[in-house]
Amino acid sequence: MYKSMPLCWVLASLAACVFAMEAQDLEAAEQFYHIQGVYYPAWSVAVPAAYAVGGQLVSFSPDRLYPEATTNKAAVSASSSSGSDKKDQPQHDTTSKKNVRLPRTVLPIHYDVRLFPVLEKDNFSILGQVSIDLQCQMETDRIVLHSADIVVDPKSVKVIEQGKPAGKTLTVASDGIHYDTDMEFLIIRLEDKDKLAKGANYTLSMNFVGNLTDQLRGLYRSTYKEDGVEMSMAVSQMEPTDARRAFPCFDEPNMKATFTVTLGRHRDMTALSNMPEGMEEFYWDHFAPSVPMSTYLIAFIVANFTQVEADVGNATWKFNIYARPSARNQTQYASEIGPKIQTFFEDYFQIPFPLPKQDMIAIPDFAAGAMENWGLITYRETALLYDEKKSSVANKERVCEVIAHELAHQWFGNLVTMDWWTDLWLNEGFASYAEYLGAQHVEPGLKWPQQFVTRELQNVMSLDALESSHPISVVVHHPNEIHEIFDRISYGKGATIIRMLAAFLGEKTFRQGLTNYLKSHQYGNAVQDDLWDALTKQAKVDKVPLPTGVKEIMDTWTLKMGFPVVTVTREYQNNSVLLSQERFLMQRSNASSQDKTVYLWWVPLTYTTDFQKVGSTWLADGQTSKKHELSIPADKNQWVIFNVDQTGYYRINYDSKNWQMIGQQLMTNHLSISAINRAQIMDDSLNLAEAGLLDYETALNLARYLEHETDYVPWNAALTGMNYISSMMSRTSGYGLLKKHFRTIITPLYNLVGFDQKVGEDLLLTKLRTKAVSWACSIGNKDCISRTVNSYAQWMADPENIDIISPNLKGIVACTAIEKGDEAEWEFALNRYMASNVASERDVLLTSMSCSEKPWILAKMLEMSLNPTSGIRKQDAARVIIQVASNSLGRYITFNFIREKWTEIRKVVSNKFFSRIIKAVASSFNTELELKELIQFREERSEELIGAERATQQAIDRAKNNLNWMDVNKDTTLPTTFHTPSNDDESSHYY
Ligand SMILES: *[C@@H]1O[C@H](CO)[C@@H](O)[C@H](O)[C@H]1NC(C)=O
Ligand SMILES: *[C@@H]1O[C@H](CO)[C@@H](O)[C@H](O)[C@H]1NC(C)=O
Ligand SMILES: [Zn+2]
Repeated sequence: MYKSMPLCWVLASLAACVFAMEAQDLEAAEQFYHIQGVYYPAWSVAVPAAYAVGGQLVSFSPDRLYPEATTNKAAVSASSSSGSDKKDQPQHDTTSKKNVRLPRTVLPIHYDVRLFPVLEKDNFSILGQVSIDLQCQMETDRIVLHSADIVVDPKSVKVIEQGKPAGKTLTVASDGIHYDTDMEFLIIRLEDKDKLAKGANYTLSMNFVGNLTDQLRGLYRSTYKEDGVEMSMAVSQMEPTDARRAFPCFDEPNMKATFTVTLGRHRDMTALSNMPEGMEEFYWDHFAPSVPMSTYLIAFIVANFTQVEADVGNATWKFNIYARPSARNQTQYASEIGPKIQTFFEDYFQIPFPLPKQDMIAIPDFAAGAMENWGLITYRETALLYDEKKSSVANKERVCEVIAHELAHQWFGNLVTMDWWTDLWLNEGFASYAEYLGAQHVEPGLKWPQQFVTRELQNVMSLDALESSHPISVVVHHPNEIHEIFDRISYGKGATIIRMLAAFLGEKTFRQGLTNYLKSHQYGNAVQDDLWDALTKQAKVDKVPLPTGVKEIMDTWTLKMGFPVVTVTREYQNNSVLLSQERFLMQRSNASSQDKTVYLWWVPLTYTTDFQKVGSTWLADGQTSKKHELSIPADKNQWVIFNVDQTGYYRINYDSKNWQMIGQQLMTNHLSISAINRAQIMDDSLNLAEAGLLDYETALNLARYLEHETDYVPWNAALTGMNYISSMMSRTSGYGLLKKHFRTIITPLYNLVGFDQKVGEDLLLTKLRTKAVSWACSIGNKDCISRTVNSYAQWMADPENIDIISPNLKGIVACTAIEKGDEAEWEFALNRYMASNVASERDVLLTSMSCSEKPWILAKMLEMSLNPTSGIRKQDAARVIIQVASNSLGRYITFNFIREKWTEIRKVVSNKFFSRIIKAVASSFNTELELKELIQFREERSEELIGAERATQQAIDRAKNNLNWMDVNKDTTLPTTFHTPSNDDESSHYY
């Protein structure tokens, strides 16, 4: 490790390495006291003994609370520093929202944080000491900073003026320490005679204690078994607003400061933080001062983990992977691709990685997927670990994607940070875009640029087509609101419109503009307009023809929700087309008539007649130019395709003759249309049909070409669209006919890809097989079912044999066997789940267990999800509930479960996952009764749904869409459209 590091690890950008604390405090803190088998630092025993022992804490009586602080007066408005907060937002009433911003009367410059996470059975606590160098911006008698779930020792709070020889100590008022728990503020008020003076610097220091909970936020504990022994570790997750739970701090992204971290640990453990260690002492690990950074990127870890040092080639930094010792052999893949991707991004951004080391660590209990802490990236095990023999291609794809995403953040997010959470989309959207570049660099066989359209663009369109979607740029204030915007819109739509931007600017201009932006804001903060400015400037330099500024174009995509459908009507006589745009909505309700937003966008259009030459034009967002005429070099017998390679975030609808010509081309030679556009045609046509803008006959006729299709991405798009039809119809009398129709589509694919994996085959072929087998089994293909059931039986007879079922088919094999089987099949999966050391295998087994058709088993799984002794991790509780809800039999059982066990679920499941549960339950609701119950549920629980309101509304909208769809399609369109060809001699193969 870094034991040989010099004491002060000074970086070029840092002036010096100083401890801001008084020297004697420092010395005192170095001593440890031994109490009941635990070592405590001296200062923790100096305060009342109750602090340190048994977790019992001093309480502060409410009558000592500080009156003014309960109003907003203490929190002087700070929003003036945030440019994008002032933007016009359609549909967002912000007046009722509390101002939760800190005043800017003092700003942090440097933190010295000392933390001792106590990892003793019966005493999981945090003993901490922080000292913060502050610069006073405005005369004030108080310091307001963030703190939550922490108790500060009032006697330890000191404010010392810097610069004077001895340092003048200001007096904190005797009743001057106040917690505003609602705002999550800690307010420190000085004696009347003392004031902080503008321009002067101060050091604020204090000691505090907290609980090391299992809440997966702030500094928390995670547990796992090593050789059957239960182990505990301390790990942190700060983003977005939980650094304040680990230590008192100015917890806003634009209050950047440098950090010197010291972690206390037991002799046999390892401590990690953002920077390398500076010096090793008895039980304290000192880390070098950091670069200027935001609090949400801080990380602390104390664990008994194993370290694997990756080969970094010529790089100047080190790169390590950490995991549980028994997961060491699963770190290989990450250590191979991690340094390569980091080097790729250094080159892509043209800025070197600024820290001396990068650590990536797999955490057994982790709420998010991963977190981009600067220099110490934390991951859920499934997002970092990969077992060559037991993990699937999908797992490899996931690991590759998440690593690339987090590494992209090291520049976009960490080096330049959004000014406030309103611009979160820029952070996440960009990383979600750039991850495809980094992943393509190391894993080109997965054809990331193609997969982008199904995984991101088409995926987010389905959410953004709801009236209750939201603009990508959302004004947020309260932590609840901040949490709610970590959604598909910020990530998927953000990535999609950035990809569109890169396409119309050209890669070279985009990349240079980006580098300029990063360089001019490095170690600082920025708003979206800063990026648009940098790109507009570069576009001018490169003479890119644009109809207007980048800001004007992009504002139409970031400030309005939704996206357009562009209708292309060809004038066959004079080789021209008429173009018009309108918002694409799955269903229009009365609510939209109250929305005054003009839903028109700046639309970068591209088109082709042969995929050799690509033409382009713009549709303006101006109200007047609703119709746009364009001449195109197409013969009247030649098709035209718009949105080449689907770089634009919009749907395209054509007149019926052009659709027909595209269909003919697909049937005769589909390869003359790019794979991405084939996926686009499938997705657009099925969704246009779903929205009633195209007849199903046209859409399903287009899909007939699939009998020739062997590429993954078009198949993925088509199957997603068909999945919707299938889920709607699964409880209707027409389902039998529909299944028959699907068989004619799926059987040739299943026969083509076969059941068995070939050595060295394309990764996307493997993924396609997984889909084909999954569909074939679900529509009753006998060969598929007997093969899956047989392999599962073989596995049950020989549980340790990992060669019986390919990891790529394990999920679908187990699912089918459990569905067709009985308790024994389910129990076997549960036992393998408990026994497995590979998190991705555990996920697969847990998912397949929810395929059971036995209601009592599904009910049992739901109960297990909340029971801490059941073996299901807290981080997986929501996943289990979502999976059971996705089973058409389990959906209603789950709905009843969440209504009955509401309180218990809320204790275990965070808002974000709760939103997903509601959506999973309601995604296929399509009867009046179900809709009514859903609305009733929202009314009864409105108070407790805070933070999940939008998700609930979206679930209701979805159910309304479904209901409407059923009205239109159930009895009429579909059964006649899905007529089965008379030569269906396949039917004898199914039951
Ligand atoms: C820590 O937990 C104990 C026991 O549940 C509780 O009484 C105490 O208030 C908690 N302390 C903090 C700082 O939240
Ligand atoms: C306060 O600290 C800042 C940052 O370290 C420094 O630039 C400034 O000169 C200091 N001011 C005084 C009055 O010491
Ligand atoms: Zn991210």
